[in-house]
Amino acid sequence: MNCSVNCIVYWCFKMSTWFPEQPKAWYHKMCIRILEFGPIPKHVAVIMDGNRRFAVKNSMDRAEGHLKGFDKLTEVLEWCLDIGITEVTVYAFSIENFKRSKEEVDCLMELARKKFKRLMEEKDKIKEYGVCVRVLGNVSLLPSDIQEIIAEVVTFSKDNTRAILNVCFAYTSRDEMCTAMKEIAEGVSLGLIKDSDVSEALLEKSLYTGNSPNPDLLVRTSGEVRLSDFLLWQTAYSCLAFVKVLWPEFSRWHLYGCILHYQRNYQQLQRAKEQNEADQLRLQRESDYEIVAQEMDQSETKSLHTLAKQYANDRENRVNNFVQYLHEKRDKFFHDIATKSKKRINGDVTVEINDSDNWMTLPFKSMIVVTDIITIQSDGSDY
Ligand code: FPP
Ligand code: MG
Repeated sequence: MNCSVNCIVYWCFKMSTWFPEQPKAWYHKMCIRILEFGPIPKHVAVIMDGNRRFAVKNSMDRAEGHLKGFDKLTEVLEWCLDIGITEVTVYAFSIENFKRSKEEVDCLMELARKKFKRLMEEKDKIKEYGVCVRVLGNVSLLPSDIQEIIAEVVTFSKDNTRAILNVCFAYTSRDEMCTAMKEIAEGVSLGLIKDSDVSEALLEKSLYTGNSPNPDLLVRTSGEVRLSDFLLWQTAYSCLAFVKVLWPEFSRWHLYGCILHYQRNYQQLQRAKEQNEADQLRLQRESDYEIVAQEMDQSETKSLHTLAKQYANDRENRVNNFVQYLHEKRDKFFHDIATKSKKRINGDVTVEINDSDNWMTLPFKSMIVVTDIITIQSDGSDY
């Protein structure tokens, strides 16, 4: 199977939009009205699995399977907006996916290249929809031209607030946590934060997803019931929906099923989440008191309570400033790539951005719904 040739031929004939704007049948409008009686997840994460099995099942080549997967993504984004889901995070390419054949990796890179370019051609729609597109992952692992296109999309859309699309690309959760820990260690050595400021809350804010709420619902298609190193930290209190259908076959009905599943489990998940938040607050308060008590000297006239309050204030300021610093650093990462790229295109500079440049590694850097039966098995250990 010659994946890349087929890809190119196929793309010559079809250049699908990110905004398909399909008409909605009356019965879908009715279903949405009914769903709106219950809580609607604000943030949904998706593991779009099963493209290759779909290709085999339909006698297509892999490239076409992935392309169908992309088209499905654009549809699902619209369905989500219709329902009031304003943030979607998708697993588009895992760092583990680099282990696939060169032909398939090239093919997925070419798909990303073409689709992000296409997105920039649809600038008016990005503005009209008010969508902020973020790319989360170790972007420095990607070919330099893709880094440039991604940087353009991210910088162009960064101030939009009506909807958020997080594309996890060259991402794994463990890599994300490791990167966050390195950043925190650097923050401590630069004196921006103290080692005693390190907490679950700080680590959470230092992840690529730091400025988003955690997903309310995570959907994985294709019948696999693993998280495959996707948003492991962020989904601790999310509702998990494992759908048996292959990603390109996912329909509005499957989405409604996942939302119903979320609504059925909502109270239980909320209670667990609130309990965890209360526990975290208590632990933080205890830690503040302990630190202040250790540092307090005999001549201190203020009460332990007053000192702990003051300490907590200072700690919060340090942490907020550090998080702000991280966000600015990540914005700058993309801004610098986009600027270099523009200058190069305009002929202002002759330096090429090299894949091997030592970019900072920051980017910027349960329950089951059964809907279909699958007989074709996945051949890989990655997702
Ligand atoms: C998993 O199916 C899917 C992927 C590895 C790629 C997903 C990518 C897209 C849907 C396109 C996204 C593109 C952009 C630009 C956002 P699989 O290959 O693991 O299939 P299998 O489980 O049947 O083997
Ligand atoms: Mg898979």
